[in-house]
Amino acid sequence: MVKALHIVGTRPQTIKAAALSRQIRTEFPDAIEEVLVDTGQHYDRELSAFFFRELQLPDPQYKLEVGSGSHGKQTAAILTGIESVLYAEKPHCVVVYGDTNSTLAASLASVKLGYPVVHIEAGLRSFNKTMPEEINRIVCDHLSTLLFTPTETGLINLKREGLRVGNAPPFTADNPAIFHCGDIMYDNSLYFGKTTTGRQEFREKFGTKPGQYVLATIHRDHNTDNSDRLHSIFEGLLRIALEGHTTVILPLHPRTLHALEKSMNRLFFEKVKKNISLMPPASYLEMIALEKHAKMIITDSGGVQKEAHFFEKPCIVLRPETEWVELVQNKTALLADAESRKIFDAYAHFLSVRDLSFPKFYGDGKSAAFICRQLISTFHE
Ligand code: UD1
Ligand code: UDP
Repeated sequence: MVKALHIVGTRPQTIKAAALSRQIRTEFPDAIEEVLVDTGQHYDRELSAFFFRELQLPDPQYKLEVGSGSHGKQTAAILTGIESVLYAEKPHCVVVYGDTNSTLAASLASVKLGYPVVHIEAGLRSFNKTMPEEINRIVCDHLSTLLFTPTETGLINLKREGLRVGNAPPFTADNPAIFHCGDIMYDNSLYFGKTTTGRQEFREKFGTKPGQYVLATIHRDHNTDNSDRLHSIFEGLLRIALEGHTTVILPLHPRTLHALEKSMNRLFFEKVKKNISLMPPASYLEMIALEKHAKMIITDSGGVQKEAHFFEKPCIVLRPETEWVELVQNKTALLADAESRKIFDAYAHFLSVRDLSFPKFYGDGKSAAFICRQLISTFHE
């Protein structure tokens, strides 16, 4: 039996962990024992508890309840909390996801105590170290024993940083194994994407018809914590709503709501509320329904960029660069940064193009099963 400590803390991590946990419970219950730890980096029910329920995750055995704080404070609290769990549980490995402060702290705590780190979503790079996530993912990759990359680009990035593909076991932090296994979020999109929402139900829930709206999300600190950028993004969305005569639906991350309330000119915020359909954070199933039926998606989220691709929607990225470079190369995503003109031009462009294609960049939707098999072959005693 492999005992795997499984770390979540933020919304996208709960979503990714759901795919692995489902695989463990359905296919490998006698081979992998999962100990789920929720750091509590996200704590609002709309970002956390609701996702556990909807995605059918078991209750975490450990809730660290670290909450919000500066990078140092939050990372330190998670580091200390995970260390205590490690002393109590003595797992064979520690599974972490993505690039959040929970990822960084959990990997650091684990490697220092000699527990192998398994990094899911390894190798992604924005080449922009002003992004906290870039620092988290670089550090985590270089502390990991098993690295699972969702894309070919991830593999190339790791090789460029001196990590070797094809090492022979036994695998350690000094002799890691790198696997290209596709994107675990795709497993979930296939699994939950089958759920349908009737037209009437859709209308009652979202106040619009399928196919008649643009879906947007914003939460990156680079956008929310800079009032000029945030203002310019909303100017772009307002142009789409008013000049483009299109409904814009925007489920609001609490960080963005706080920023709008704190730094946005009151009259402008009133205009935003009048013309853009702001809603609380969507549940995962609501989000999938909104993505599936959107005309187009506008986002600074990593996960939502990929889901736009899974559901074959053009995507306008509210960042100067992206780790999901294949989307931009494929011309189904356009980088508009926070520039209102670029956002509107990208919207107009995607309305006019007809020949977009959506190749399978992210695997076959079976990455959780692949990861489980590697956990067993590496850590089984
Ligand atoms: C974090 C991750 C980011 C990820 C995102 C997913 C880091 C550095 N950032 O960003 O990579 O894309 O999660 O959504 O790890 N807040 C609440 N309620 C909550 C959680 C947060 O109101 O339940 C507010 C607080 O004001 C908090 C702010 O949001 O200060 C930021 O939260 P934090 O977890 O630090 O970063 P995110 O922006 O959520
Ligand atoms: N998501 C959601 N409700 C929302 C916004 C996003 O369920 O209101 C889901 C989305 O479908 C995707 C994941 O959250 O699966 C992406 O997380 P987020 O945008 O918070 O973070 P990132 O992927 O940028 O780290």
